[in-house]
Amino acid sequence: MTENAKSPDMYTTAGKLADLKARYNEAVVESGAKAAEKQHAKGKLTARERITELLDPGSFVELDEYVRHRTTAFGMDKNRPYGDAVVTGTGTIHGRQVAVYSQDFTVFGGSLGEVAGEKIIKVMDLALKTGVPILGILDSGGARIQEGVVALGKYGEIFRRNTAASGVIPQISIIMGPAAGGAVYSPALTDFVIMVDKTSHMFVTGPDVIKTVTGEEVGFEELGGALTHNTVSGVSHYLAADESDALDYARTLVGFLPDNNMAELPVYESEVELETTDEDRKLNTLIPDSPNQPYDVHEVIRGIVDNGDFLETQALFAPNIVVGFARVEGRTVGIVANQPSQMAGTLNIEAGEKASRFVRFCDAFSIPILTLVDVPGFLPGTDQEWTGVIRRGAKLLYAYAEATVPLVTVITRKAYGGAYIVMGSKQLGADINLAWPTAEIAVMGGQGAVNILYRGEIKKAEEAGEDVNAVRTKLANEYTYNVASPFLAAERGELDGVIEPAQTRVAVIKSLRALRGKRASLPPKKHGNIPL
Ligand code: HXC
Repeated sequence: MTENAKSPDMYTTAGKLADLKARYNEAVVESGAKAAEKQHAKGKLTARERITELLDPGSFVELDEYVRHRTTAFGMDKNRPYGDAVVTGTGTIHGRQVAVYSQDFTVFGGSLGEVAGEKIIKVMDLALKTGVPILGILDSGGARIQEGVVALGKYGEIFRRNTAASGVIPQISIIMGPAAGGAVYSPALTDFVIMVDKTSHMFVTGPDVIKTVTGEEVGFEELGGALTHNTVSGVSHYLAADESDALDYARTLVGFLPDNNMAELPVYESEVELETTDEDRKLNTLIPDSPNQPYDVHEVIRGIVDNGDFLETQALFAPNIVVGFARVEGRTVGIVANQPSQMAGTLNIEAGEKASRFVRFCDAFSIPILTLVDVPGFLPGTDQEWTGVIRRGAKLLYAYAEATVPLVTVITRKAYGGAYIVMGSKQLGADINLAWPTAEIAVMGGQGAVNILYRGEIKKAEEAGEDVNAVRTKLANEYTYNVASPFLAAERGELDGVIEPAQTRVAVIKSLRALRGKRASLPPKKHGNIPL
């Protein structure tokens, strides 16, 4: 009988089977029960329970449950739990294969030492080899302090794989506890980060270190809670109300994504009406007569996509631009839309970065992009200029200009200046550009233009004691009608058509059908140099 044997007679088959059973019991059943006791007391699920809820029932196949660490320092050799601090494996979501890992906070605080790192690396390699999405559930104190540089090295290997997998397989991180120190950079390198309100925290340096180094006092929640990362930093893409909500969002998200960059998009059954419906006609009354009056662009999105279903990402960050996934004729489209009800839909640094990363994700995974434009321009101000609106705003231009997926753009109202060009214009490479008759396309808005073009007339009117505001408004309206008319752009072929808002849904369906066979490529290069 070996030292490690769990059954009395290792020379018989029955003895070996009993040993396996005993080990499995220790590795999975007993450890699961212990973990449940600790996690449930904190209102949290265990690592395995989270996986079970994420995946299709009964589909999880665990890997490496018998892995044990080899550390002897700090008396660690007296405590060598099976599986170490992470549960890994494969399973399915909506019947499609995925790979998954889930850190177990009840084992050494979910910390990442040599073998926990190796388990994660192994399942990432498997996901890359087989071309399936990888979902990581993070709940960890970071690098295992007892293991020093070995633990740090494993993080390095994980980051390298995150980067290699970027644009090849979808990567989703679900933060369900702490993600501290350099460990935050693994989720940061992935495509989508989901955080749970109040129970997940991400920070490079924690409150104690901050206080020691800078004297600044800040709590966990304010520093790196889910609300902060969804509204202020933009690190997180979804603020989940609880763990179930987070897992549910991840499942829904996977449903929109292909398995990998070479795979077809998932196609869902859908029957679309190709005649204009009464529902479609509601869009005809959406745009207010006053150009300063906002409307909610979600109404436009809902009016175009299948069943009005839209999965928004980063909804709480830079809400002046809306991005997310929907389906048209059962096929995934990425939506990028200015939001006139937030900051009048102006583009600022945050909105530009949010949209560029989304456009690049869609392009990497062959997801067509529908852009809805109502943008008065870039947000003016020293704050924007000094924090790099030139460098950072250029990202969105870059993202659209290098995108080779089908690009359909609909201008609903304002499309002014550089912002017109950025938002999926024809000249930047969009395939089908449409506008509503309410569109205004020009170098700048009417009010701004008359102040420059008609300075003399306005001065004269002022001297003559006329109502200057009325004169200015009249001139601005004339300018908008004559210069900003969508028919001028249509005359030059910069728009492919001017359509009634009610026709948009059918026009988008037909445009995407027409573009399904699109093939475009960029000049060969190692990689571009997007302004970062
Ligand atoms: C080893 C750890 C650990 C770690 C926690 N534990 N973090 N063990 N290495 N990094 C252990 C604790 O000792 C404890 O063990 C158990 O996990 C639970 O931890 P608690 O502190 O009791 O839990 P809680 O109060 O909820 O606090 C959680 C925590 C805190 C905020 C995460 O543990 C913490 O601050 N940990 C250290 C975080 C950190 O600085 N990590 C290194 C970051 S640098 P017992 O036996 O008592 O149950 C990093 C570099 C990555 O990660 C580099 C990439 C390039």
